[in-house]
Amino acid sequence: MAEHTQLIDAINIRTAVRAFDDEPIDDDMARQLTMTLEPINLLADLSIQLVRDQPRVFTEANASGHLTNAANYLAIVGPKNDDEAKERAGFYAERVVLTATLRGLGTLWVAGSWDREQAARHCRVSDSQELYLGVVIGYPANHLEYQAKSYEQLTEVQRTHRTSKTFEQFTPTMSDEERQSAPDWFKAGVEAAMKAPSAMNRQPITFSYNAADDTAAAHIDPTAGDEHWALNDLGIAKLHFQIGAGQGKWAWGDGGLFIHR
Ligand SMILES: Cc1cc2nc3c(=O)[nH]c(=O)nc-3n(C[C@H](O)[C@H](O)[C@H](O)COP(=O)(O)O)c2cc1C
Repeated sequence: MAEHTQLIDAINIRTAVRAFDDEPIDDDMARQLTMTLEPINLLADLSIQLVRDQPRVFTEANASGHLTNAANYLAIVGPKNDDEAKERAGFYAERVVLTATLRGLGTLWVAGSWDREQAARHCRVSDSQELYLGVVIGYPANHLEYQAKSYEQLTEVQRTHRTSKTFEQFTPTMSDEERQSAPDWFKAGVEAAMKAPSAMNRQPITFSYNAADDTAAAHIDPTAGDEHWALNDLGIAKLHFQIGAGQGKWAWGDGGLFIHR
């Protein structure tokens, strides 16, 4: 796995991890994660914080067996009542998730499987901010065995571990002809977005390619039933698309355009 160090590799092997080893994130790993977080927080105007060794935040989920040994998390904190910040949170926190994946850590976005009030006690949230979501982080169960797996074995797990909407469902406004003639960067972008995490695996984001101006657009699908976390999922899907496309930049917002250069 050592030679696979690019963000696209992380996309190809990442899955939600719900069982962790009972091993703390040590100071050295914490420092490396914090070094990733600091510039991202500046860029994103967010306050993503690493909180270690607080198993009480996950008492219920660990006791029910839904999670195992969950104890550390990224607290995703940003400005209150700010839709664009919620989208940025998805985009930039997923960037941290992918970095953590490349370091052999497992992650799980959490909206429900934690005690949010307890989680808020261990991070800094000012009066103008709120705690949006969390990402559980830690060494996956049997992590030495996990880290010994080849890249091909890990991509196979990623490909088969859950259902996904099809490429056609991800591009519902396009005809078959338009799909076929779309540039490779668009197809690779959509394929990377198909591997993105989303709340309850609803995959609420769709994409389209506009040949007239060579742009892509991302939309929230209102029928996906994901009103609550859709902006976060929009940000996550846009990050995956951008990495899959290889280069380019999004405009924020539902319907935001992607320019590939
Ligand atoms: C915003 C968000 C919230 C989530 N909340 C939870 C949660 O509370 N509990 C849980 O077990 N999984 C949660 N998940 C994980 C999703 O269920 C998971 O990402 C999805 O099923 C796709 O699987 P994958 O991540 O393995 O690709 C959440 C994911 C996202 C993006």
